[in-house]
Amino acid sequence: MATKSKSKGRNGKSSSKTSKSSSNKNTLNQSGSSENMDNNDENENENKNESTGNERSLKDVFISQLQDMYSAEQQLIEALPEMAEAAYDEELQDAFSNHLEQTKRQARRLEKIFKRIGEDKDEAEKCKAMEGLIEEGQEIISEFEEGPTRDVALIIGAQKIEHYEIASYGSLRSLAETMQLDELARILDKTLEEEEITDALLTEIAEDINMDAMEDVTEELEDVEETYA
Ligand SMILES: [Fe+2]
Repeated sequence: MATKSKSKGRNGKSSSKTSKSSSNKNTLNQSGSSENMDNNDENENENKNESTGNERSLKDVFISQLQDMYSAEQQLIEALPEMAEAAYDEELQDAFSNHLEQTKRQARRLEKIFKRIGEDKDEAEKCKAMEGLIEEGQEIISEFEEGPTRDVALIIGAQKIEHYEIASYGSLRSLAETMQLDELARILDKTLEEEEITDALLTEIAEDINMDAMEDVTEELEDVEETYA
């Protein structure tokens, strides 16, 4: 089985080179959907479909993962204003607000990618992972009162979101590189870099906020000790 698919992959690869120069519509092309192929010779098409079978399934994975991320970004655009509103620390509020603008740009970048490969962004199913991560954030907001402790929990939730995005964009970038879609890989890498910077910023902000929250806990414990002394 493994040998079979390996052999198919090699076929796919060599036909990919051929199809790039002949703009095969079954192959991703960064300059568009490559629909300018002459479809008159049906036999020739059949042969090409067969030989690019493996590559087409890789294309399907690439597209469905892009759509997943588009759904994720759209959900985040909806959720970030509530997270910014819920944050007590000003620096954290700003980080969420800035990331909202950045997320809008990242969604536009994905739209650009869909346009280039001639695929529909709207066919995306809702990203369930992001839906769950956002729900967890909403639970934090309803469970904790505004203050440093809630901020600590909000940062943990936000970093889980960033790590999901880092994993997704990292994989998409690698896949684009494998498929020799270098320009798309560069676009995805830009977003990946932004997610990593946001994650590092949240870690930095957490250092201060964790200390603030800890001071609150220490004060509470001192009060309890005084009461029972
Ligand atoms: Fe993002």
